[in-house]
Amino acid sequence: MTSAFKIYNDDCFDVLQNFPDESFDMIFADPPYLLSQSGTSCQNGRLVTIDKGRWDISRSIAEDYEFHKRWLEACRRLLKPDGTIWVSGTYHSIHSCGLAMMLLNYHILNEIAWFKPNASPNLSCKYFTASHETLIWARKSKKGKHYFNYDAMKNGDFPKDTIKKPHTQMRTVWSIPTTPFEEKTLGRHPTQKPLALLERIIIAATRPGDNILDPFMGSGTTGVAAVKLGRRFSGIDTDPAYCRLAEKRIKTVLL
Ligand SMILES: C[S@@+](CC[C@H](N)C(=O)[O-])C[C@H]1O[C@@H](n2cnc3c(N)ncnc32)[C@H](O)[C@@H]1O
Repeated sequence: MTSAFKIYNDDCFDVLQNFPDESFDMIFADPPYLLSQSGTSCQNGRLVTIDKGRWDISRSIAEDYEFHKRWLEACRRLLKPDGTIWVSGTYHSIHSCGLAMMLLNYHILNEIAWFKPNASPNLSCKYFTASHETLIWARKSKKGKHYFNYDAMKNGDFPKDTIKKPHTQMRTVWSIPTTPFEEKTLGRHPTQKPLALLERIIIAATRPGDNILDPFMGSGTTGVAAVKLGRRFSGIDTDPAYCRLAEKRIKTVLL
């Protein structure tokens, strides 16, 4: 029996080139936003300079675009013809990813706005309060058929989503609170995604037993959701501390 998950502590560009063509049914990628040191945010009620780590510093708009295009190209080779990719980001990164995806001939299926009802306030009072992230859902090409669990999205139970009404079609605005404290007890990652977001994505776009990849795994949220839902998972991250955290989190599901 193959193991339920595998973690690679390395640069994703080095790892991605070693997988055979069409290895994955679904890819979830939450690449660096490349926004650190270029702005401020609110932390515990205080105004702080954004610093998520060296991996999150922008080089230039052109170089950031090349970075996104390179990993998106590597991922396209790895998707099965009926597989899908989800790319998540804020306005700092998502437009660059979206342009690269269109030029690489990905076929965009939906754009999801993940609305955070409990987002931090804007302390400068000069802008609207940032309270959503964007997810692009795409297929490898226009040709082909992708899997969509329409029934689970329409009739499933989403108790914390104040936008989703029971037994109505799932819309493209999802209300999901930011990552709760209980999901952070094994360690910290500055951009950890909520499990509810990844569970929804995986249920919508994969079947039990499917093979899922996350090239920017971070704290391993995709892996936790994948293994919990009976899918197989491969995750990559350059930071050894995040790989250890992801492994610990995923193993709790297997206990
Ligand atoms: C936005 S975070 C992902 C957070 C993740 N979705 C979670 O729920 O914890 C991006 C991650 O990409 C990793 N990273 C940055 N550049 C990388 C690269 N070239 N290869 C692999 N990982 C990379 C960073 O260490 C960081 O943990």
